[in-house]
Amino acid sequence: MRSRWSPSVFDASHELDDGELALLLEAARWAPTCGNAQPAQFLVCRRGDEAHQVLVRHLSRGNTGWVPRASAVLLVGAQIAPDESGEGGYKPFHADYDTGQAVAHLTLQAVASGLVSHQFAGFDHDAVAAELGVPDHVRLLAGIAVGVPGDPAEVSERDAERESKPRRRRPLERTAYAGRWGRPWLA
Ligand SMILES: Cc1cc2nc3c(=O)[nH]c(=O)nc-3n(C[C@H](O)[C@H](O)[C@H](O)COP(=O)(O)O)c2cc1C
Repeated sequence: MRSRWSPSVFDASHELDDGELALLLEAARWAPTCGNAQPAQFLVCRRGDEAHQVLVRHLSRGNTGWVPRASAVLLVGAQIAPDESGEGGYKPFHADYDTGQAVAHLTLQAVASGLVSHQFAGFDHDAVAAELGVPDHVRLLAGIAVGVPGDPAEVSERDAERESKPRRRRPLERTAYAGRWGRPWLA
């Protein structure tokens, strides 16, 4: 878990095989969910395929340099209402929570598989949903770029610099409380 992070320099020549992708998706599929509703769904886009080209067209500016280089992008949706056959979507309040947890499992499986991942929400969700046929009962939430680290010399200065920026977190005493919400939990 300590070695998971979100790199911005991917190796643009690396390919993921189906077995590696399946392992990531299985990790997400087996995550716990409220009432076992299993809202998380994924659209697998490999670098250069048609769906990937659609996504790349709709990336926000800050993501255009690094996302397209990743071996694959998994677009993440949460089922928030029953599908056409009345299946699933029966825990809409928890759908985003459950989907995020499924993705967390996937990102840790990526580390275990020797891969890296970087999630992103910076793209035109409505345009991508419309062009890739995301149904109304699924809310498109994010993408997960997956691959292996690349050479910083091959990317823009901005993306290369991001690689070496220190990772920061709010201190634990402003994250975990005891006795009453807001009162720091102290070990
Ligand atoms: C839902 C979500 C959306 C994100 N969107 C973007 C994004 O659009 N562009 C980007 O460069 N990083 C994005 N990130 C990555 C975060 O900035 C990153 O996870 C955070 O800074 C912590 O860094 P770490 O993952 O290396 O620990 C996103 C992460 C999540 C979970």
